[in-house]
Amino acid sequence: MDLRPPRGTLDLLPPRGSRMRALYDRAAALARLHGYRYVETPGFEATELFATTSGETSDVVTKEMYTFEDRKHRSMTLRPEGTAPVMRAYLAAIQEQPSPFKAYYLTRMYRYARPQEGRYREHRQFGIEVFGTDDAGADAEVIAVGDAFLRGLGLERIELQLNSIGDEVCRPAYREELLAFLRAHRDRLTDEHRDRFEDNPLRVLDCKDDGCRTVAVEAPRITDRLCDPCRAHFDGVQAGLKDAGLSWVLEPTLVRGLDYYTRTAFEFVSPGLSPQQATLFGGGRYDGLAEVLGGPHVPGVGFGMGLERVLMAIEQEELEAPEEPGLAVFVVGVGDAGRGRARELVRELRAAGVAADTAFEDRPLKAQLKMADRADATYAAIVGERELEAGVVTLRRLADGDQREVAPGSLAATLAEARPPSAGGAPAGRGDA
Ligand code: HAM
Repeated sequence: MDLRPPRGTLDLLPPRGSRMRALYDRAAALARLHGYRYVETPGFEATELFATTSGETSDVVTKEMYTFEDRKHRSMTLRPEGTAPVMRAYLAAIQEQPSPFKAYYLTRMYRYARPQEGRYREHRQFGIEVFGTDDAGADAEVIAVGDAFLRGLGLERIELQLNSIGDEVCRPAYREELLAFLRAHRDRLTDEHRDRFEDNPLRVLDCKDDGCRTVAVEAPRITDRLCDPCRAHFDGVQAGLKDAGLSWVLEPTLVRGLDYYTRTAFEFVSPGLSPQQATLFGGGRYDGLAEVLGGPHVPGVGFGMGLERVLMAIEQEELEAPEEPGLAVFVVGVGDAGRGRARELVRELRAAGVAADTAFEDRPLKAQLKMADRADATYAAIVGERELEAGVVTLRRLADGDQREVAPGSLAATLAEARPPSAGGAPAGRGDA
């Protein structure tokens, strides 16, 4: 039996698991702080949902979907992205939902691509979506939430790239203009785009290949050809970002890889990472998505953030990743009476909300102290014969061996004081665990 996880997937054991969990906790707290509520949708959906919304020429649809036939021969696909499923779920229950509808999710996505550092077949996303308003303030808020998340982790080397890709009024004429330009420069494109740009010329602008990039920078710019409402909206988004104290770079070739976008498109890039994995999160507006699904007009905007990439960026900037709070205390009981008392103490501590553990089996003192260390406990509380007699507990700080005696009754209070429970989602600075 090969014990490695399937290609392109990750096992997250401690401490990596604790780091991912800490990101989830912070993301949830930050989203709630901004009025977003948690949603879950199924891990798989009818293939049609993604095929019709991501776009026939998108990488996701052409080569990355995990599609299978179920036992009744229905075509199903593991969720490659979160926006279409959340919109589907919202439309199915639209009467019961508030407007605007503000949702967040923390979940896994599946894309069958060639695995490499920062690109997985199963990745985790923190996503937020706002449905039911086309106000530019929603775009600015969404971007600001993502920015606050990354900066709260201490990340500084991040850049917000921003563009508007117009709407059904101004984009068709731009598309024709771009097509004419690309036909004239066809020879300079990569093989893949030389034969395929007619289907979706905007995709060329997003290509990371050098040949395509040189063509893209000379190409006509959508931002010079926006209709008045799209221009006004784009100005509004930028005013909102300025208001929120954010800075950004206008990136006229930024078009995003999924077809549902209209108007605002943005990506947060960590220039320290290689281009294939540099985008920590991306998103934009998708005012036509609900109608593609057969629903009413429901404008929307959101982002999806790759959490594995966030952890990579933390490493790259040599920051300490937050971890879920560990054990406050490992209670070491020596001898039968000591172990009995240890079990009792652990029950009391847990009831008082202090994270505590003890050994299941009888082990020598030294072995138990080693267990305390490996469990990443802050303290060991020792109950041996001497302590039982004197009616005390020896409390040892494992980091430096500092030791004192405390009354068993005050143990919970002492530990709560020494180690306040983690603030969970509160933004933390450098090195905050
Ligand atoms: P996306 O750009 O396809 O957008 O993915 C969002 C983020 O997920 C990326 O910026 C990246 O950090 C991460 N990601 C994507 N694919 C992989 C992968 N194979 N391995 C690791 N990380 C990956 C969407 O999915 C849209 N639904 C985002 C959105 C929400 N737009 C509006 N609302």
